[in-house]
Amino acid sequence: MSARPDILVTGPLDAGLMAKLEDAFAVHKLWLTADRDRFLAECAGSIRGIATRSVVGANAALMAALPRLEIIACFGVGYEAVDLPAARSRGIRVTNTPDVLTEDTADFAIGAIFALARRIVEGDRFIRAGRWGREVLPSSVRVRGKRLGIVGLGRIGLGIACRAEAFNMTIAWHGPQPKPAIPYRYVADIAELAGESDFLVLTCPGGPATRHLVGRAVLDALGPRGMLVNIARGSVVDELALLQALRDKTIAGAALDVFADEPAVPEAFHALDNVVLTPHIASTTVETRAAIGDLLFANLSAQFSGKALPSAVA
Ligand code: 8YV
Repeated sequence: MSARPDILVTGPLDAGLMAKLEDAFAVHKLWLTADRDRFLAECAGSIRGIATRSVVGANAALMAALPRLEIIACFGVGYEAVDLPAARSRGIRVTNTPDVLTEDTADFAIGAIFALARRIVEGDRFIRAGRWGREVLPSSVRVRGKRLGIVGLGRIGLGIACRAEAFNMTIAWHGPQPKPAIPYRYVADIAELAGESDFLVLTCPGGPATRHLVGRAVLDALGPRGMLVNIARGSVVDELALLQALRDKTIAGAALDVFADEPAVPEAFHALDNVVLTPHIASTTVETRAAIGDLLFANLSAQFSGKALPSAVA
């Protein structure tokens, strides 16, 4: 066993963070191994921490393979891929990286609304394809003054709402329960919210509780002038129903930063003009990535030096 705490990293992380981790800890890189079972058998007895991305997390089987595991640190605010009951039952601490990514993610959501509604990405494709001058790009739709429905009014949802106020948008929201201190109108039924929204933005957590929350009924309610923006998790949307709605134009369009089976994006999306696709980058600015990395590192360091964890969820 080395003097530095041993940690397992489940997949590639930003270079700056990896360098810090490798400086402070004995790092074991799970994704580089061809034989995962053998790899774990060799180092499992020494691993005290896991650094993992939010969408990868750590399941009960991985925890069970690591008898000395003390902490699972997520790179991101989401932690739905960590089996929390399994962690709690062994007293394994779980941390995420809230707050540091709120503002950039909310900025991105507004950007996605504009990219879609104002045909910014479509316009770019239009020029590159040499169509300007020979054809007319259809007019876009105005964002200012429209109705914004937010699904999940946590930190990021609130950040989006406060930005949307600057565009004079009417804001309503849906979540599992009303929040009395929130100044925006709560709508208990998500389909009802969709029915009264021009833009429906998803910012809720992933996991079983929100799986396929947006399916055919919600998309039908959003209607042929409505647009969907998903910066939450791909699992929140029934992707097949969404593809159908985009093809049939029963909704006007979608901006998608997250997908059900990342990094795989169904080919069928590629052919559609009414969709803007981005590779899960809502929080990905240089500044925020560094802050996420610093917070993850601070959580691991605190655990191994017996200090209070800066951002524990369990
Ligand atoms: C991260 C995210 O970029 O915070 C989250 O939960 O989904 C993103 O902001 C992602 O987790 C990095 O893998």
